[in-house]
Amino acid sequence: MKWVVLVGSVRKGSFNAAIARALPGLAPEGVTVEILPSIALLPIYDGDIEAAGIPEAVTALSQAVAAADALVIVTPEYNYSIPGGLKNAIDWLSRLKEKPLKGKPTLLQSASMGGFGGARAQYHLRQVLVCLDMPVLNVPEVMVAQVHTKVTDGALTDQSTQSFIEGQLAAFHDFVRRQKAGASA
Ligand code: FNR
Repeated sequence: MKWVVLVGSVRKGSFNAAIARALPGLAPEGVTVEILPSIALLPIYDGDIEAAGIPEAVTALSQAVAAADALVIVTPEYNYSIPGGLKNAIDWLSRLKEKPLKGKPTLLQSASMGGFGGARAQYHLRQVLVCLDMPVLNVPEVMVAQVHTKVTDGALTDQSTQSFIEGQLAAFHDFVRRQKAGASA
């Protein structure tokens, strides 16, 4: 089974990217986890660009998502919501006739230096994904608070966070299997 990870931050030292990099080592046996290309590669959504032809970076992202069994989104919270760049990526993917996001089992994670761990961003993100008919795991929720104390030199080093994420990924594995079985029934 293959999962792909979309990271909502584009900065080099991103804490959310550090969490994304930890996922391959925490995923259940038999699952490969691949981080998708940066959302910074996508132009700002523009209907005129779309009319002239879907940009290569959008097509590549769409194909990678379509080929995966499931999607993980790891994102910071900006102003109590999701970063514009992440919304832009979702907006582009929503425009493709292949509908790469529709029905894709999805897992959300967020991290913040604050005390709420990006919870408000996750709830806004859930609302956006409803429109795209994406099944999202409800619980357990991973919202990593004070993330700067849990990442060292770009690696997630906090053991209790690692264990909690490991448990969430195991629950997601079951969820993906149930979704796939339901889809083929
Ligand atoms: C933030 N940050 C932030 N944090 C938070 O918990 N709630 C918020 O509403 C916001 N708002 C916000 C807006 C903008 C424009 C920026 C740039 C930042 C802080 C943010 O969570 C923090 O910078 C994270 O470290 C960003 O994630 P990465 O880049 O480390 O993955």
